Amino acid sequence: MNKTSMILDVDTGVDDAFAVLFAAMHPAIRLLGVTCVDGNTNVDQVVANTLKVLDAAGAGDIPVARGAVRPLLGESKYAEYVHGADGMGDLGIAPSQRRIDKRSAVELLRDLIEESVDPVTLVPLAPLTNVALFLRAFPETAKKLHRIVLMGGSASAGNATAAAEFNVWHDPEAAAIVFQSGVPITMYGLDVFMRPGVTREEANRLVQSAQTSAQFGGALINAFIERLGVSPITLGDYGAVATAIHPELFTTEMFDVVVDTSSGPARGQTICDRRDSFLKELEPLDLEDSAKVRVVMDLDVEAVRQLWLKTIDKGWS
Ligand code: RIB
Ligand code: CA
Repeated sequence: MNKTSMILDVDTGVDDAFAVLFAAMHPAIRLLGVTCVDGNTNVDQVVANTLKVLDAAGAGDIPVARGAVRPLLGESKYAEYVHGADGMGDLGIAPSQRRIDKRSAVELLRDLIEESVDPVTLVPLAPLTNVALFLRAFPETAKKLHRIVLMGGSASAGNATAAAEFNVWHDPEAAAIVFQSGVPITMYGLDVFMRPGVTREEANRLVQSAQTSAQFGGALINAFIERLGVSPITLGDYGAVATAIHPELFTTEMFDVVVDTSSGPARGQTICDRRDSFLKELEPLDLEDSAKVRVVMDLDVEAVRQLWLKTIDKGWS
């Protein structure tokens, strides 16, 4: 089986946990490492949560590194109202015995990409602070990065604000650096983010499973449903990982994209130029700052849902 060599950058977070669990368990993914960043909660809590998810996945010795403690500019803006006080559903899971890698996130990114014998796919599921710092610190290594498949942005409405999606809104300057980097980018944004979900009934079936990973996934989903009061609840960040290994399940369009780094009401918006070509010629989108980005606009929801369920619960049918 062809494997995809992958690095995740996370702010674990409940839906980051869905993604890490899947990436650590799916046989077509070679998870090289995980870097942690300030986002849903503080970076030390993100590290602690990520280590617990790797335990639940029964993962091998996958390096996990600590990264940026706040955005490039401005202050942290946490999302405990969505992810709980501990950032991962307040399930009271015992601390992991795993040890964090001694390298910083940007050093781990550099080393993993330099050492990989095959192309590396970087999957950021969080504010892009670590990725921007890596691009600026190690530009020669960045040229070796095969592609970025990120959860972030929106070609339509926002969630953190009317215009901006949380990961981009949290650090717009970092997002602008990443989008303008020249690395091929696939953007899994809010246009599809909410669609692949799991119901309370399915979560209860997972909790009853004999498999630790399924029990963990089911408990997280139930905690998410209780906190947000909706069922089905989205698998969120996981969708970006699925996009990276099963592109046939997703429909994409190429758009010129600019990140708004102003201080106005659209700060953090990923402005996607969806106009007809003759109109675009009238007034091109700010071309020195725009990038051609592959934006996910549709997906086979049931196939994407089943892919996650069957990966974390071998007995799922
Ligand atoms: O807007 C969705 C993003 O914000 C996801 O990465 C989720 O984890 C939250 O951080
Ligand atoms: Ca996230």
